[in-house]
Amino acid sequence: MSTSDSVGQNDLLIVGPGVLGRIVAEKWQKENPSCKIFGQTATTDNHRELAQIGIVSSLKGSRVDQKVPYVIFCAPPYHSDDYPEHLRVAASNWNGEGSFLFTSSTAVYDCSDNGLCSEDSPCMPIGRSPQADVLLKAENVVLEAGGCVLRLVGLYKMDRGPHVFWLSKGTLDVRPDHIISLIHYEDAASLAIAIMRKRLRGHVFVGCDNQPLSRSLHTSSSSKTNFGMYSKFTNLMVSIAGKK
Ligand SMILES: NC(=O)c1ccc[n+]([C@@H]2O[C@H](COP(=O)([O-])OP(=O)(O)OC[C@H]3O[C@@H](n4cnc5c(N)ncnc54)[C@H](OP(=O)(O)O)[C@@H]3O)[C@@H](O)[C@H]2O)c1
Repeated sequence: MSTSDSVGQNDLLIVGPGVLGRIVAEKWQKENPSCKIFGQTATTDNHRELAQIGIVSSLKGSRVDQKVPYVIFCAPPYHSDDYPEHLRVAASNWNGEGSFLFTSSTAVYDCSDNGLCSEDSPCMPIGRSPQADVLLKAENVVLEAGGCVLRLVGLYKMDRGPHVFWLSKGTLDVRPDHIISLIHYEDAASLAIAIMRKRLRGHVFVGCDNQPLSRSLHTSSSSKTNFGMYSKFTNLMVSIAGKK
């Protein structure tokens, strides 16, 4: 990361400028045309592409001489040996002024019965789920540093998300009536920015849209609009809402 220029009050570091991070970058740039946006990635594979959209990239784990006022950590936990440590490094690159936000997941909640789940719902006890353990440990690093946590439900856009997976499989042995909450990547990015703008400390948020749908409804609506095909979920021995 370049440290030669002075730090701007809206400069932003995006750890994990993938699908969500790039949308955040685009929106942030529009709101703050004179800001600098830095990105940290797992590999150098996308650095040229990121430069073309105005993101100055470096590799993950880099510590900077000049800290920035806004840091968003939106890299997924996969392929990371020590995810909480990556959050610690991200926290060390925050100057404590604007906001430090971590996009976690609602996978930390101990809720899988189609029931209501909100910010205050109980989380998985440590030791039950390795995936939740990693996220909860990472969240603690962020909260202890004064950052905020945004627990996102499944993210989707037209060509990415669970509907794409289900439709590619055709038939799946899962319940068609299981309720799935999703949020569009664009909405998640806007929400993340709105939270950062509040400059809050130590808050936990849940990010989802207001249209929880069953698996079958998700795929029937996405197939009608985009794909021209249907998935079948076989676990309950029912086909999707009258469709074969
Ligand atoms: N997808 C979902 O349904 C879902 C649900 C809940 C929460 N979330 C969370 O939402 C956030 C955004 O998801 P997304 O789908 O936009 O992610 P994504 O597109 O898969 O993000 C990939 C980006 O992260 C970089 N990256 C991976 N590991 C890294 C690390 N340890 N340090 C720094 N950069 C790293 C990659 O670098 P390269 O360019 O080198 O590959 C790439 O730039 C993530 O925090 C994810 O955990 C996602």
